[in-house]
Amino acid sequence: MSEEKILEILSQIQDPFLKNDLVSLGFVKSISLNGNKLSLELGSASDNDSNVKTDSAIRNAFKINSPETEISGITFTKGITTHINPKKTEIFPEVKNTIAISSGKGGVGKSTIAANLAASFAQKGFKTGLIDADIYGPSIPLMFGINEKPKVREVNGKSKLLPIEKYGVKIMSIGFLVDVNSAVVWRGPMASSALRQFISDVIWGELDVLFFDMPPGTGDIQLTLSQTVPLTGAVIVTTPQEISLADARKGYHMFEKVNVPTLGIIENMSYYQLPDGEREYIFGKEGGRQMALEFNTKLLGEIPINTQIRTGGDEGKPVVISNPGLTESEILSRISDELINEINIVNANRKENSDLVIEI
Ligand SMILES: Nc1ncnc2c1ncn2[C@@H]1O[C@H](COP(=O)(O)OP(=O)(O)OP(=O)(O)O)[C@@H](O)[C@H]1O
Ligand SMILES: [Mg+2]
Repeated sequence: MSEEKILEILSQIQDPFLKNDLVSLGFVKSISLNGNKLSLELGSASDNDSNVKTDSAIRNAFKINSPETEISGITFTKGITTHINPKKTEIFPEVKNTIAISSGKGGVGKSTIAANLAASFAQKGFKTGLIDADIYGPSIPLMFGINEKPKVREVNGKSKLLPIEKYGVKIMSIGFLVDVNSAVVWRGPMASSALRQFISDVIWGELDVLFFDMPPGTGDIQLTLSQTVPLTGAVIVTTPQEISLADARKGYHMFEKVNVPTLGIIENMSYYQLPDGEREYIFGKEGGRQMALEFNTKLLGEIPINTQIRTGGDEGKPVVISNPGLTESEILSRISDELINEINIVNANRKENSDLVIEI
């Protein structure tokens, strides 16, 4: 039984959620054959019930096409498909997806959420990277507790930087390279060029997802960034109150203008859980949910205000790492799962060459 033949059989099996075959989706993660005993590790975009059906479809297909093969095990893990886009392939040949964590208003929790989502994706076994695109106010070094400088490697006569790896996430931030106070006085083009170097001069290697922690606002810098980086999509973070939602709407329209799909909205600081079980809606109620309805996009989740989320950031250990059993960590982990679904949906529906990409 050759690997080719195994792949041929697996190419007859569809992921029920994405309605595409396992081989084309890149969901065949490992094949191990021991004599005539075969075990498979597969990605899946579907739920457990559907995986049970896929499991028996695979067993049937082998029974018909290769009766001598005995299937000793099939395991499914959540799979992420690749964002197909010529510009992305050129810039990031080994990066499957690029996601901007964005907001209109500052201080709504983008960096906190970017740090926790990246750590959560890594926990789930995905190869994950994080670019701190907030050149003027990088928060990621603090949130991951990183004080070292990236190592330099020569690749084909060119000096390249190795990202710093922490909690399984490969990270790059301007805060690793220069005194943060000096970056603050840079002009726009210098900031753009620093970011461009994070893309072209860093050895990212293979990644399932590369997150961008975006600076606040919807000004020129954000627009330029979203045009420069071929994005799978954007996640918009908002707090429930009107002033934040108004800015978040601007963010949505900015991405719409440059043909970047919005993968969903995360409402942060949604409420404070009181000890008696009641919730106090400090910043208003359900603004994120209404915005998701308004734009026909997904509400990926609602994150309460919690001291451990804040201390996690200040102490350099995202809460999903320091306290994975905490309700808020579980909410963040569920948001990661919802985001994976949305990435897969967007990748399945994307028309090729639909991206408008303007060089800076
Ligand atoms: N759900 C939460 N509960 C408690 N504190 C939070 C929560 N989300 C964020 N914070 C805290 O709020 C502050 C602002 O968060 P953060 O830096 O992530 O926002 P930001 O949107 O990235 O800000 P900026 O626009 O300046 O980049 C931080 O001190 C962070 O720890
Ligand atoms: Mg930030």
